[in-house]
Amino acid sequence: MKSVTVNTSTPYDVLIEKGCLSRCGEFAAKLFVPQKSTAAIITDDRVSSLYLKTVSDSFQKAGFSICSFVFPNGEDSKSHDTLLQVYDFLIQNNITRTDFIVALGGGVVGDLAGFAAATYLRGIRFMQIPTTFLAAIDSSVGGKTAVNIPAGKNLIGAFHQPSLVVCDPDTFQTLEPQTFADGCAEMIKYAMIWSEDFLKLLESCDINEQIEEIVAYCVDIKRQVVEQDELDSSIRMILNYGHTLGHAIEKVTNHTVTHGHGVAMGMVLITRLGMKLGLCDKALLERLCCILKQYHLPCEYNGNLAELVESCMHDKKRSGNTIRLILVSTAGKAEIVPMETQKLVNLLKEELPC
Ligand code: GLY
Repeated sequence: MKSVTVNTSTPYDVLIEKGCLSRCGEFAAKLFVPQKSTAAIITDDRVSSLYLKTVSDSFQKAGFSICSFVFPNGEDSKSHDTLLQVYDFLIQNNITRTDFIVALGGGVVGDLAGFAAATYLRGIRFMQIPTTFLAAIDSSVGGKTAVNIPAGKNLIGAFHQPSLVVCDPDTFQTLEPQTFADGCAEMIKYAMIWSEDFLKLLESCDINEQIEEIVAYCVDIKRQVVEQDELDSSIRMILNYGHTLGHAIEKVTNHTVTHGHGVAMGMVLITRLGMKLGLCDKALLERLCCILKQYHLPCEYNGNLAELVESCMHDKKRSGNTIRLILVSTAGKAEIVPMETQKLVNLLKEELPC
C-alpha cells in the first residue's frame, strides 16, 4: 500500500491501494471509536449503485453504525439546496461531534460533504473516499470544501482537512473515458507546474500500468504545496494553473465542458498568453498540446470571448483590479504573475476570436 502523510494543521494519511475499498472501515477504526461513532456516508446515485454496499459492509464489519444519504449525480447537486438536505439528514440521524462524515465519490461529493462537515455543529470530522481519478489526485486532498452559487463555482466554502483519505484506484475502471481524462488534466497540471521528470514519465509510460504510483506522485506534489500554504495565500495558487480560464469556460458552457477539459483548454490559453508576455516559448506550448492530445484532452477553446472575460472577473484570485495569473515559464516551474484585469481582458481579446 502507498501512503502519503499530509502535515497540515491537522495531519492525515492518504492511503492508496487497488482493491482497498473493502477495507475502508478497518482503516477508519484506527482513528474513530467504532462502538461510539456513526459513519454518515454521503454519496451520489451513480456511485451508490456501484460502491455503497461494499463501503457500508466494511464500516459495519469494523463495528461502526452507519447511515447514508444519496443525491443525484452531477455538478448541479453541488448547491445550497442539496447542502440543506444533507444538514437535515445529519440531524435526523442524530449525528454529533463524535461521529464522522464519509464522502464517497468524486469532486462534487467530496466538496459538498466536506463543506457540510466543515459547517455542521461548527465542524465535525470527515473522511474522503474518492472514486474518480480527479478527486483522488486533487480535490480529496488539501481541505478545500465548497458549494457553487449562480455567480460562480466554489464561491462559498471553507478550509477543512479530512481525517483520512482512502483511495482504491480500481474504482477508476467504472469511469467514462471522458471522466478519467478530466483527472488526466490535473495530472498534467502537476507535471507542468512542479516536475519535468514527472512530465517525461507521463510522456513515455502507460499510466494504467502504474496507477497507484501515479496517484501517489500527484498527491505527494499536492502535499508539498499545501504544507507550505494551507490557506491558499501564496504558493498554493500555482495549483490553479489553467483554472481561472478553465472555470470560466465551464461556467459559460453551463458545465457541458467538464472541469478537466476546461482546465486543459485553460492551460493552453494561459500558456499562449505567457508566450505573448515573453514568459515562455513556443516549444512549451507545443509540448503541452502534445501531452494533452496523448491523454485525449482538448487544446482549443472556440467559444464566446465576452462571456469568458466577464466570468473571469469573478475569479477568487482577483483582488481589486488585479488578478493573479499562474504561468509556467519552463516545464516544471510555475510563477504567480499579478496583472490588471483590463490588461488580461485586452490580451484575451487579442488571443481569442470574438
Ligand atoms: N485544487 C486546488 C487546490 O486544492 O488548491
